[in-house]
Amino acid sequence: MSLLELQSVSKRFGGLTANQDVSFSLEKGQIVGLIGPNGAGKTTLFNCVAGYFPPSAGSITLEGQPIAGLPPEACARAGVGRTFQIARTFTSMTAAENVLSGALLRERKLRKAREAAMRWLAFVNLDRFADKPSGSMTISEQRRLAVARALATEPKLLLMDEVMAGLNPSEVRETVDVVLKIRDQGIACLIVEHVLEGIMPIADKIVVLDRGAKIAEGPPAEVSRDPAVIHAYLGDE
Ligand SMILES: Nc1ncnc2c1ncn2[C@@H]1O[C@H](COP(=O)(O)OP(=O)(O)O)[C@@H](O)[C@H]1O
Ligand SMILES: [Mg+2]
Repeated sequence: MSLLELQSVSKRFGGLTANQDVSFSLEKGQIVGLIGPNGAGKTTLFNCVAGYFPPSAGSITLEGQPIAGLPPEACARAGVGRTFQIARTFTSMTAAENVLSGALLRERKLRKAREAAMRWLAFVNLDRFADKPSGSMTISEQRRLAVARALATEPKLLLMDEVMAGLNPSEVRETVDVVLKIRDQGIACLIVEHVLEGIMPIADKIVVLDRGAKIAEGPPAEVSRDPAVIHAYLGDE
C-alpha cells in the first residue's frame, strides 16, 4: 500500500480547472518533487491533500484511509504536515513558540510539548533562535522554522511549498541537508520547488504539472529530458 495515493484528483474554481485528473502515488521514505510552471496547480494540489480545499472529484488516501474532504486539522492528525508558499511564521512569537504551536497538536502537556519543540528547532539547526522573535530571522531561517513547526505535528508525509525559493546557493544546500535528514527519519516528503538544482538531485521521483494536468512522472533524469516538460517550461522557442 502506498503512503499517499491520488486518483483522478480534480479541483475547479468556478469555470477554472486548477487540477485535472491528477493521479500519482508516493511511498514511505520517498522524496517526490512536484514541479511545473507558475499557475500549474501545484499549491492547489497541496491544499487538496492537506484539507484546505475539498477536491471537486477524485480520491486521496493516506495509508489506505480516505482523507479527501477532511478539514485541515483532521488531515494533520492523520499525518499530513505542510508548510505554506508564503512562509507564515508568527513574527512576534519566538522561534520556540512557533514550533510549540505545532507540537501542541500531539502533546497536551506544555512541558513535554516545549521539549519536543526544542528538539525540532535543533533538528533544523535553529536552536540558537529559540528565544528570539521569528521576525528577526532571515527568509531562509523562517522557512526552516516553518518546516520545524510542521515536523512538530509528527507527520508521516510532509508537504513543502517552495521552501528554497529566493535562497542563495549555501542556503539551498542547508535546506537540502534538512530535507535529507527528514527523509532519514522515515518521513516522506512531497516538495513543490522551482529551484530545480535543489530538488532534482535528491528526488526519487518527479511529477510535472502543466495547466492543472500531470504531463510527466518519473526519475529526475528522465523527466528533465522529456520533450513535453521542456516545452512546458520553455514554450516554443
Ligand atoms: N482559491 C482560489 N480561487 C480561485 N482560483 C484559484 C484559487 N487558488 C488557485 N487558483 C487558481 O488556480 C490556478 C493554479 O494556481 P496554483 O495552484 O497556485 O498554481 P502553482 O502553485 O502551480 O503556481 C491558478 O490559475 C490560480 O489563479
Ligand atoms: Mg504555488
